[in-house]
Amino acid sequence: MAFPSAWLDELLHKNDIVSVVSEYVELKPKGRKLWACCPLHGEKTPSFSVSPDKQLFYCFGCHAGGTVIQFVMDMERLTFYEAVQMLANRANMELPNEINDREMQRQRAYKKRLIEANTEAARYYSGCFLNPAIGKDAQGYAARRGLNAEIVTRFGIGYAPDTWDSLLKLLKGKGYSEKELVDAGLLVHNAERNTVYDAFRGRLIFPILGVNGQVLGFGARVMGDEKPKYINTGDTPVYNKRNNLYGLYLHKNEKLDDLIMVEGYMDVIGLYKAGVKNAVASLGTALTQQQARLLKRYVEKVYICYDGDAAGQNATVRGLDILKAEGLEVRVITIPDGLDPDEYVQVYGKEGFDRLKENALSLNAFKLEAMAKGYDLNDENGRERYAKTACAFVAGLQPIEQERYYRLIAKKTGYALEALEAQGVRSGGLQMTEDRTPIRGGFRRRIETGEDPRDVTERTLILACLHDKLALSRAIAENAAELIKNDTYRAMFLAMCEQGSAFSAAKYIGELDEKQAETASAVLKEEDAMENAIETTADCIRRMRRESAEDEIAALRAKLNKPDLTAEERNAVLKEITERIRANK
Ligand code: CTP
Ligand code: MN
Repeated sequence: MAFPSAWLDELLHKNDIVSVVSEYVELKPKGRKLWACCPLHGEKTPSFSVSPDKQLFYCFGCHAGGTVIQFVMDMERLTFYEAVQMLANRANMELPNEINDREMQRQRAYKKRLIEANTEAARYYSGCFLNPAIGKDAQGYAARRGLNAEIVTRFGIGYAPDTWDSLLKLLKGKGYSEKELVDAGLLVHNAERNTVYDAFRGRLIFPILGVNGQVLGFGARVMGDEKPKYINTGDTPVYNKRNNLYGLYLHKNEKLDDLIMVEGYMDVIGLYKAGVKNAVASLGTALTQQQARLLKRYVEKVYICYDGDAAGQNATVRGLDILKAEGLEVRVITIPDGLDPDEYVQVYGKEGFDRLKENALSLNAFKLEAMAKGYDLNDENGRERYAKTACAFVAGLQPIEQERYYRLIAKKTGYALEALEAQGVRSGGLQMTEDRTPIRGGFRRRIETGEDPRDVTERTLILACLHDKLALSRAIAENAAELIKNDTYRAMFLAMCEQGSAFSAAKYIGELDEKQAETASAVLKEEDAMENAIETTADCIRRMRRESAEDEIAALRAKLNKPDLTAEERNAVLKEITERIRANK
C-alpha cells in the first residue's frame, strides 16, 4: 500500500513542517533552525529543533526526529498511514485512488457503521445502569466493588438487562440490520434455530475503547458466581483483543513516564480509583507483539503487574520477552499474598502500590528469581545446581550488570562472590550480549536493545552519506552497496547513489510500504547527532568489511564439520581460514 510518488510530493509540499509543528508549539528562530520546548517530552529549555531547509525535526532531549509525517505519528500517536491520512485531510487532498479504491471505501464505511452501533449500545447499557429501576442490582454490585459515580462515568460502565432482545429491538429500530449487529458482536446468531438474540444479558458492562476513543467492543461480567465470569466481544471487523489494550485511550494526549500492564478490567479500574491512573490491561490474554508496539508509542518503560497466581507469573515471563524485543525497558511488580492489583490497592492504597513499584525487579533479577523457583534452595545440592545455572546466565550479561546479579545469587545461595564469578567465567555465558557497536567520530547513542548491531552500522552509514555528499562519494568508491546486508537500507543507499543531490529522504520513505518505512525512518532520527560524516563513513565501512569477512570465516569453519572431508581438503580449508584471519587483522 505504498503512496504514489507525485502524490506524496504534493502532500509534503502542502504540509510544510514548520506550519504543522507550529500548530502544536511556538517555534522561535535561531541560526538556520527553529526551536521550541519539545512537545513530545516534558522540558523547560528548548531542545526541539525544526530545519525548514531539510524539512526535518529533531529533539536533542528525547531523540525523536524525522519528517513531518513522523512528527504527526509521534504527536498524535498514529501509524504511518493514519498520519498520512491526517496530513492529506489537513491539506484538503483526496487519498490517491489506489489507496482509496472502492472496496476499501466500502470496508471503511462498514467499520464506521459497526462502531456507531457499538456506540449506541454503550449509550443504552449506560442508561440501563443509571436507571433506578432497571439498574438497581447493577448499582448495588458496583457499589459493593467500590465503583463510585465518577469511576462509572470515566469508564462508561453500564448494565445489560436480563432479556433476550431489548438491544436487538432498540438497534433494529434505529435502522441497523441483524447482520451488522451480529458482525459487531452485539447479537449472537443461533444457526440451528436461525434466530438472533442479545449477546450480553444480565451483566455489568465494560466498554472497550480504541486509542482514539471509538467503542470497539465490550466486556461483560456476571454479578454473581455463575460461569463464565466474563463474556467478551470476540474477533470482529473492528475489534481484535490482540491489537488493543484496555484503558490506553485514557492517555491519548498525556505524557507518561511509564505504563503498568495488568490482567483485567477491574485491575485497571481499581488502580485508577486509588490514584494509579496509568494501568492498562491485556484482558487476561498473553501479551502480543502488536500490544507491545502500541505501548512503545506511549512510553519507553513498562511495568508488568500480573496476578500473583501461577498463571499470572507464567504470563509475566512470556510478556517480558515480548516487551523487551520491542525495545521497551521492562520491570516486574510482584504482588504478595496471591492478590491481584485491584485487591491489593483496596487494602494498601496508592502508597502501598507505589512501594511495590519502587521495588520492582529488573528483567534479569526477575528471571533469576523465577529460575530459583525450580530448585530447592534449602538443600545443598539444589543451591549448587541453581548457582551453576544462574551464573551461566549472569556471565552472558553486560559486564557492568554482572556484579549486581552475582551479589543476588550470593545472597540466595550463600556462596562467596569470587566463587560465583569464577563459575560464571568458566560457563562462558549462556547468551551472547550485543554491544559491539560504538562508532568513532562522535556518533554515539544508546543502542536499542535487541536491534541487530549491523543494522545500526548500516543506517549510520546511510545517515552520514545523507549528511555529506563527500561521504557519499567515498562510500560509493568503496563499493559500500555490496556490504549492506539489510534490504531496506541497501535499496535506500542505491536510490541515493542514483539520485544524488535530488534525493529526498522524506519522499523516498513515503513511497515504501509500512514495514520498510519504519526501518528506513530510523535513519533520520539521528540526523542532528551526526558530527563527522566522513570519518563515520570510513568507520562504518571498516566495520562492515570486518563483519563480512567474519561471516566468510564462519562459513569456512562450518565446512570443517563436514563428515566426509578428506585430510587434503581439510588442510586446504584450514589454510584458507588462516589466510582470511590474517587479512582481516
Ligand atoms: N477473563 C475473561 N474470561 C474469564 C475470566 C477472565 O475474559 N472467564 C479476562 C477478563 O478480561 C478479566 C481478566 O481475564 O478482566 C482477568 O481475569 P481475573 O483476574 O479472573 O478477573 P478480574 O479482572 O480480577 O475481575 P474480578 O475482579 O471482577 O474478578
Ligand atoms: Mn480481580
